[in-house]
Amino acid sequence: MRVAMIGTGYVGLVSGTCFSEFGVEVVCMDKDADKIERLKKGEIPIFEPGLDELVKSNVEGGRLSFTTDLAVAVKGADAVFIAVGTPSRRGDGHADLSYVYAVVKEIAVAMDHYTVVVTKSTVPVGTGREVQRIIKAARPDAEFDVVSNPEFMREGSAINDFMRPDRVVIGAESDRARELMRKLYRVLYIIETPILFTNLETSELIKYAANAFLATKITFINEVADLCEKVGADVHDVAKGIGLDGRIGKKFLHPGPGYGGSCFPKDTLALTKTAQEHKSPLRIVETVAEINDLRKVRMAAKIIAACGGTVRGKTIAVLGLTFKPNTDDMRESPSLDIVPALRTAGATVRVYDPEGMPEAEKLLPGAVFCKDAYEAMTGADAVAILTEWNQFRSLDLKRMKGLLKSPVMIDMRNIYVPADMAAAGFTYTCIGRPNTRASG
Ligand code: UDX
Repeated sequence: MRVAMIGTGYVGLVSGTCFSEFGVEVVCMDKDADKIERLKKGEIPIFEPGLDELVKSNVEGGRLSFTTDLAVAVKGADAVFIAVGTPSRRGDGHADLSYVYAVVKEIAVAMDHYTVVVTKSTVPVGTGREVQRIIKAARPDAEFDVVSNPEFMREGSAINDFMRPDRVVIGAESDRARELMRKLYRVLYIIETPILFTNLETSELIKYAANAFLATKITFINEVADLCEKVGADVHDVAKGIGLDGRIGKKFLHPGPGYGGSCFPKDTLALTKTAQEHKSPLRIVETVAEINDLRKVRMAAKIIAACGGTVRGKTIAVLGLTFKPNTDDMRESPSLDIVPALRTAGATVRVYDPEGMPEAEKLLPGAVFCKDAYEAMTGADAVAILTEWNQFRSLDLKRMKGLLKSPVMIDMRNIYVPADMAAAGFTYTCIGRPNTRASG
C-alpha cells in the first residue's frame, strides 16, 4: 500500500508519519523546498511531542520519504491525501480552498492508476463533490474515487490521537474506496476503533459539527465561570457536578481565557458562513464565536482589575503565550489579544513561553522576552499565567515572592489552589472560583 500526503503542515506531517508507522509506504510532499530539505535532514518544523523520533525511525525503516515534486509523490500511490491549508479567507471568513483546488488539478494530471483522493484537511461541505468534478473534467479517462477522512487530532497529543482515536470517519461512496480505506486503517481494527462510513457531505459536516460542539462546551463553561464569580460558586465543582452526567461528559469543561488555536476559531467561523449561505443559520455557533472573541479582550481587563484598576507604569509578567501547552503554535492565542491590551493600558509586559518564543517574537512587538519564568517575574508588579505548561504548575512561590514587587498572581488556567496561594501570601485571582487575598 502506498500513500502520498500532499502538504506537510501539522495535519499532513503527523498523519503521514503515523500511516508509515502503521506499515504503509508514505511519500510526504510540500512545495516549500526549505521545509522538505529540513525534513530530509531529520529536522522537524513543528513542536509535537514524540514526532521527531517517529519520523526518524520510519525514514530509517524506508517507509517515509519527502519530496517537493507532487507528480513523484502521486505516481504509484493508492491513496493521495490532501492536507494543505484551508485558512479563513480575508474579509468573509469562508475557508479559502484555493490551495486545495490547485493541488487537485495537479493530482489529476499525475494519477497513473486507480487512485483514491482523500481530503484530510478540514474542508467545507461540498468540497469533496467539487474535487470529484475537477478531476473528472481534467481526466475523463481516470479511474478514481474521492473520499473525505477528517482528522480529529489535537496539537500536543497528535500522535496518540492519531494512533488511538475515539473514531475514524470516512465519507466514501464506492465499495472499492471503502475497501482501500479499511485496509489503510486495518491496524485500528485490532484496538476496536469505531470506523464510521458515510457519504461525503456527512463526513465533511461531522468534522465541523464536532469542533463547533467542543467550542460551545468551552464557551458554556467559561460563561458559567463568570457567573460563579458573581454568586460565590466554584466552577470546577459545577463542571464535575454536570460532567458526571453521562449525557454531558466531563471533558472540555475547563474554564480559561477563551479557546484559540488553528481549528476552533477558523472552523466555527467557516461553519457559520456555510450555514448562512444555505439559509439555515447556526445561531448558537455564531454566538459562541462572538463571546470567545470578546472574552480574550476581557481577560486583559481582568488582569488590570487584579492590579488595582490600572497598570499604567506597572510591569506585568506573562507566563505562557501559546494557545495551549505542548505546542509552539501561537495561532489565535489569547495572548495575542491580552499582551497588546496590557501594553496599550500603559504596562511593560515581560513574557516567557517554553516553546512559543520564536513565533511570539514576531507577533508581539514591544513585549520583553525573557529566558525563563523567573526572569520574567523579576521586578514585576503581578504575574499572569495564560497557558498551563507543566513547568508553571509548580513554581517556587517563595522565590517568586522575592522577585515580584508585589505578590499578585492572575491564574487564567486555575492551576493553583486558592487556599494554598493565600497561605503563601499571594493575592490570587483565578477563573470562576473565589479569589483570595494573602493570609500569610
Ligand atoms: C482541536 C480539536 O480538539 C481537535 O479534535 C481538532 O482536530 C483540532 O482542533 P486543538 O486546537 O489542537 O484541537 O486543541 P484543543 O486541545 O482542542 O484545545 C483548543 C482550545 O480550547 C485551546 O485554546 C484550549 O486551551 C481550549 N480549551 C480546551 C479550554 O479552554 N478548555 C477546555 O476544557 C479544553
